Amino acid sequence: MTLRSALTAAALAAGLATAAHAQQPPLKIGLMLPATGTYAALGDAIEKGFRLYVDEQGGKLGGRSLQYFKVDDESDPSKATDNVNKLIKRDQVDVIVGTVHSGVALAMARAAKQSGTLLIVPNAGADAITGAGCAPNIFRSSFSNWQPGYSTGVVAAQKGYKRAMTITWNYAAGTETVKGFAEAFEKGGGKVVKDLLLPFPNVEFQALLTEIAAQKPDVVFAFFAGGGAVKFVKDYAAAGLRKTVPLMGSGFLTDGTLQAQGEAAQGLITTLHYGDDLNTPRNNAFRNHYAVAYKANPDVYAVQGYDAAQMLGAGLAAVKGDMNRRDALYAAIAKARIDSPRGAFTLSPQHNPTQDFYLREVKGEYNVVTGVAVKALPDPGRGCTM
Ligand code: PHB
Repeated sequence: MTLRSALTAAALAAGLATAAHAQQPPLKIGLMLPATGTYAALGDAIEKGFRLYVDEQGGKLGGRSLQYFKVDDESDPSKATDNVNKLIKRDQVDVIVGTVHSGVALAMARAAKQSGTLLIVPNAGADAITGAGCAPNIFRSSFSNWQPGYSTGVVAAQKGYKRAMTITWNYAAGTETVKGFAEAFEKGGGKVVKDLLLPFPNVEFQALLTEIAAQKPDVVFAFFAGGGAVKFVKDYAAAGLRKTVPLMGSGFLTDGTLQAQGEAAQGLITTLHYGDDLNTPRNNAFRNHYAVAYKANPDVYAVQGYDAAQMLGAGLAAVKGDMNRRDALYAAIAKARIDSPRGAFTLSPQHNPTQDFYLREVKGEYNVVTGVAVKALPDPGRGCTM
């Protein structure tokens, strides 16, 4: 072989290798989110956040372009196993991203564990996902239900409230958030005197508001989100309770809801792992990009979707897009430092964000940060034996 033909052969081989790399098929992303029902807006924000990060990376993660497969889970746990299997078995996705509702997410986590599919949860807080049901292939970009409940309980006790009533939907997100609240509130010297429950996604609050008015606790702690949160905050104000019984909540009560809640939400104090006006270059850039892309303001759900894509990106970068290198992929996600609009965070050994919980107050259409309720709060990860 002449020098010239050797060089040509080498160039050809290199070209082929590049072509083979470029021809890696698109990574199949299964988005399982609510597109209908009380959590529809939350699902929409998560998807927008996810796609925004991917777009910022030129449409690729770890050198792979992405192909999306979508299922509307309707926030219905009874359909969850069938729905997630559409993605796992029918579409054979590489990654599942979802969902909002804890009950649906618990079924998704079971299916992901069985099939070994990578699952990134961009909202649902069900404690078991990074607790008793934890797994090497399951990660969360959001929070555990315990976390915002606990941080709000810390603040309520610091404010000197002694008797609290809680009100929420009777499913994992509600009951676990209330449990986190009670743990911190009672540690701080308070007492939860009564838990009020109604079925998800029921919004007939009147009888329960009457009970609150009769009992006159020092404070009410509420977990509601999405459309249900809009109605609850308005009904609470319309019942005249804002003047007599202070209302606190995990920040979902007032996130993505303020336009619709208007006057009724003004001054509400919550805690959450995000606040609209965090004045950091990272958050400002994120909010600008989001506003330009979607002509809307992002909320906590958009941040969690964005960070789910960042986590996936961190894993794929480490294995150059090769999903077969499972151990290296999961190790890279587990040890990533995610440069989030909420502030940088790392994952606990059980794969849940260890993060600051901010104290926020509603002013106009924003959840304005007035302090840090609890710094770098890890979920206890109870029952995880990974
Ligand atoms: C949940 O079901 O885990 C859930 C839903 C909506 C939220 C937060 C948690 O805003």
